[in-house]
Amino acid sequence: MTLMKEPDLGTPAMPGEATVTVEIDGMPITVPPGTSIMRAAAETGIDIPKLCATDSLDAFGSCRLCLVEIDGRRGTPASCTTPVAEGMKVRTQTPKVEKLRQGVMELYISDHPLDCLTCSANGDCELQDMSGVVGLRQVRYGYEGENHLDLLTDDSNPYFNFEASKCIACSRCVRACGEIQGTFALTIEGRGFESKVSAGGVDFMNSECVSCGACVQACPTATLQEKSVVELGMPTRSVITTCAYCGVGCSFKAEMRGDQVVRMVPYKGGDANEGHSCVKGRFAFGYATHKERQLNPMIRESINDEWQVVDWETAISYTAKKLLEVQAKYGSGSIGGITSSRTTNEEVYVVQKMVRAAFGNNNVDTCARVCHSPTGYGLNQTFGTSAGTQDFKSVAKADVIMVIGANPTDAHPVFASRMKKRIREGAKVIVVDPRRIDLVRSAHIEAQYHLPLQPGTNVAMVNAMAHVVVTEGLVAADFVAERCEGYEEWAEFVSREENSPEAVEAITGVPAADVRGAARLYATGGNAAIYYGLGVTEHSQGSTMVMGMANLAMATGNVGRDGVGVNPLRGQNNVQGSCDMGSFPHELPGYRHVSDDAVRELFQAVWGRTILPEPGLRIPNMFDAAIDGTFRALFVQGEDIAQSDPNTKHVFAALESLDLLVVQDLFINETAKLAHVFLPGTSFLEKDGTFTNAERRINRVRPVMAPKTGKHEWEIVCEIAAAMGYPMTYNQTSEIMDEIAALTPTFSGVSFEMLDKVGSVQWPCNDKAPEGTPIMHVDGFVRGKGHFVPTTFVPTDERSTRKFPLILTTGRILSQYNVGAQTRRTANVAWHPEDILEIHPHDAEVRGINNGDMVSLASRVGETTLKATISDRMPVGVVYTTFHHPVTGANVVTTENSDWATNCPEYKVTAVQVGLRHPAIPAEGVARQDIPIAVD
Ligand code: SF4
Ligand code: SF4
Ligand code: SF4
Ligand code: FES
Repeated sequence: MTLMKEPDLGTPAMPGEATVTVEIDGMPITVPPGTSIMRAAAETGIDIPKLCATDSLDAFGSCRLCLVEIDGRRGTPASCTTPVAEGMKVRTQTPKVEKLRQGVMELYISDHPLDCLTCSANGDCELQDMSGVVGLRQVRYGYEGENHLDLLTDDSNPYFNFEASKCIACSRCVRACGEIQGTFALTIEGRGFESKVSAGGVDFMNSECVSCGACVQACPTATLQEKSVVELGMPTRSVITTCAYCGVGCSFKAEMRGDQVVRMVPYKGGDANEGHSCVKGRFAFGYATHKERQLNPMIRESINDEWQVVDWETAISYTAKKLLEVQAKYGSGSIGGITSSRTTNEEVYVVQKMVRAAFGNNNVDTCARVCHSPTGYGLNQTFGTSAGTQDFKSVAKADVIMVIGANPTDAHPVFASRMKKRIREGAKVIVVDPRRIDLVRSAHIEAQYHLPLQPGTNVAMVNAMAHVVVTEGLVAADFVAERCEGYEEWAEFVSREENSPEAVEAITGVPAADVRGAARLYATGGNAAIYYGLGVTEHSQGSTMVMGMANLAMATGNVGRDGVGVNPLRGQNNVQGSCDMGSFPHELPGYRHVSDDAVRELFQAVWGRTILPEPGLRIPNMFDAAIDGTFRALFVQGEDIAQSDPNTKHVFAALESLDLLVVQDLFINETAKLAHVFLPGTSFLEKDGTFTNAERRINRVRPVMAPKTGKHEWEIVCEIAAAMGYPMTYNQTSEIMDEIAALTPTFSGVSFEMLDKVGSVQWPCNDKAPEGTPIMHVDGFVRGKGHFVPTTFVPTDERSTRKFPLILTTGRILSQYNVGAQTRRTANVAWHPEDILEIHPHDAEVRGINNGDMVSLASRVGETTLKATISDRMPVGVVYTTFHHPVTGANVVTTENSDWATNCPEYKVTAVQVGLRHPAIPAEGVARQDIPIAVD
C-alpha cells in the first residue's frame, strides 16, 4: 500500500439519523442535525480550507480560513462551527471568501519560517497545503516585523520535537491533549500576538505530558513532529497493523521507508482506539531492531556449553529428534509446551495443535495461567463464557463506572482516555483499590467513592456491596427472575450480618458508610459498568472475586446492554486470543473440554490424530513433574517463565532438571539462559496473523517487513511437528485461521478476507452473528440462565506479621510494559529508569526513610533494594512497586499461594518489611533467582 492518508472531514460526526438536507455549491446532502457545514461539505467531496479544525476534535473556530457564504445570511460564518440547517444553501468558493482566506494565509505565512524545501514536514504540512489551496501568491507584509521566528525548539521529549517558531497557535495540540488524551498538559498562554503553546511553563519532559503523541498527530505543521521523521524523512508507504503491547489492541498505520519503520500513526479506522494511542504503541517499537535481538537458531547439548549457531534445518531436526528421544525414554506425557499471549492466534493455535497431535498429550498451558485465568473460570461459571461482556465504546453509555483492581491510565491508557472522557461528561466513578490511582483524582476527574481496601480483601468488599443491594431492596427483581438462577441461595448468603459493610469494615479497612454509598450508587445510578484488572485476579480468591462481581452485576441488572457489564482489562495484547485458541490443558479451542467426546471427534477428524480425553499438566504441575523427573522436555513460545512465574527458585530448579528446553523468543531472556535450543522469533512488525483484544476484537496483524529470522514462527512449529512425524502443512497464515474457524463455533465467520474487508470483528462471529458480537448476553446468558454463586470470603494465608508488617502490592507504570523486555530496550527508560517503592509518609517516618532513600524490601522469600518515594497515594501499611526492571531485583513478590480454582499466583499480596538499606546489601539487590517476579 502506498502512504495512506485518512480523510479528515474537519469536525466529528454527529450521532443519529441523517435528516437535515442542505445544498453546498449546488450539491444536495442529507446529514444528521448538528453536523457542521464543513463536515457536510466534506461528505459530498467538497473540501473547505481549514487549519484549526480536524475531525478528531470539537470545532474551535479560531483560524478563520473556513469561511463560507450562506444564502440569506449576512457575513461569512466559519463553516467548522456553523451547523447545517434544513434548506440551507452554502457557497464555499466566492470571490469574497477567497479574498478573506488569502488575507488570513498571508498573515500566517508572514510569521512562519519559509524553509519548506528543507522542512521535515515538507509534503505533510497543512499550512503548506492551505497556501496552495487558497492560491496565495504573495506576502505583502514582509518578514521584517515582529515575529516568532527566533523561538527555541524544545527537544526534551525522546520521541518528538516542539519547534515553537513554526507554531500557528491553532490550539489543536492543546485540545487533543484535553479532549482525546484527557491529560490537559498544554495550554495557550498569552493573548493575541503573544499567544503561545505552553506545557505548563516547563519543557515537555518535565511537564504533565505522558507522551501519547496525540498533539503531534493533531499538529498541522512541523511544530510538533516525530524525531524519527526529522531523522529519516517522510514515509512512503503504510501498513495497517495492531499494537503488540497491551490488551487494548490499538490499530496503527506503520509508516515505512523501504523496510524501515519511520513512525507508527494510530489508525482512525481502528475500532479499539479510533486514532488514539499511548507512548508504547506509538513510539516504543525500536526493540524490534535492538542489537540484542537474536536472529539465528542456536543449539547446545548442555546449558553449560556455548551456543552453537546453526541453520534452520539443523535446529528443527535437532529439536524434533531430542523431543522424540525424551518421549521414547520417559513416555509420551514427558514433554509439553507453553504458549504466549504475545504471539498471534495462529502462532498459538499451531503450538497447542503440535502438543496435542504431534506430542500426543494435552500438556499445554499459557501465560494467562498467571494473570487472567480466574477471569475465564469466574465468568464462565456465572455467565457461561470466558470473556468480557462489552466493547470499549460501551463505556460512553455508562453512568457509573466502577474500577476494581485496575489502573487504566497506566496499564490500558487508550481505554482510560475513553473512560475519562465519559467521566468528564458526568459519569460517576467508584474506585476500589488500595492505592489512590489517577482515576480517584486528576485533571477534571474526581471519583465519588474511593474504597482503599486492604490487599487481599476484595471478596469481603464485593460481598458487602451485595449485602447493601439485597438488604436495601435495590435488586433488579425482574431481570433476576427472568434471566438468572441461584438467586435465593446467594441472596440469603450475602444478607448475613457477617457480610454487612459494618462487619467487614474491620477486614477491608474501608468505612461502612462509604461501602454503602458506593453500593447504592452502583445499583441505582443508571447504567453501571465494572472494569477490573489483575488486582482482582492475582489473588488466592481471584476466581471467587470474578464471580462476586458477576453476581453484583446480575443482581442489579447491569448485564446485556450498552454501558454496563463486567469487563476484564486484559494485560497482554493477545491474552484473550491465547485462551480462545485452546492453550489450556483441559480445553480445546473455543473453551471446549477435552473430555467431551463429540468435540474431540471433531478435532480428530481434521487433525487425523487421537486426542487424549484427560487434561494435561498446568504450568505449576509441569515444574513439579520436572523436579520429580517425570516431565523432561518443554517447548516455550515467547514467554520468559523464569522471570514471570512465582517462586523463581522452584522454576529454576525445574528448568535446570529438564533434558530439553526449547525457547522461541526475540532475546536471550532468563529462560533462554537455561535452554538447549533457541529458536529466534519474530517481532510484531514481521508477524502475519491476528490478535484478539480485551473486548474480544479480532484484529489483523500485518507484516510490514519479511521475518528477520527468515521464517515465520508458525512455520518453525509446523516443521518441528513434521520432523516428529506429524505433518502440519499450511501454505499461508490465512489457512490456519480457516482451520480455526472450521473447528471453533465462535470463530466460524472469521477469515483474513473478512477481516481485511471489515477491519475487525468481535467474537462470537458466526451464522448467528455474522458481523460479530459487540455486547454479550443481550437476550439471555450464554449458559442459559445467569448463575449466582455464593462467594465466601476466605482470608489469604499471607498475613502481615511482626517480622513483615507491611503488605506489598504491585502494578505497572505507563511507560514500561510487563517485565520490560521490550520497553527497556527503547527510549521509554527515560521515564522509568528503575522501579521505585511507594510508601506512605507515616510508614516512612517510623522507619526514618526520606524521599529518594535506598531501602531494603524483604519478604520471607527474598530481599532486594530499591529507591523509596514517599507517597500519600498509599494507605498506611501498604507499599507498592512496579516490576519492570527484573535485573535490578525490584520485583520481590509473592508466596506460592495461588487462586484456588486456577492456580493463578497471588502476586498482589505479600507481607514485607521495609527499612533503610543495610550496608551489607548490595545496591543492585540480591541475586535474581532468589526473587519471584510478578507479571501481568
Ligand atoms: S504527547 Fe499527549 S500528553 Fe503530551 S502534550 Fe501531547 S497530547 Fe498531551
Ligand atoms: S503546536 Fe501545532 S497544533 Fe499546537 S498550536 Fe502550534 S501549530 Fe497548532
Ligand atoms: S493502549 Fe495498549 S494497545 Fe494501545 S498503543 Fe498503548 S500499549 Fe498499544
Ligand atoms: S477551520 Fe474553521 S475557523 Fe479554523
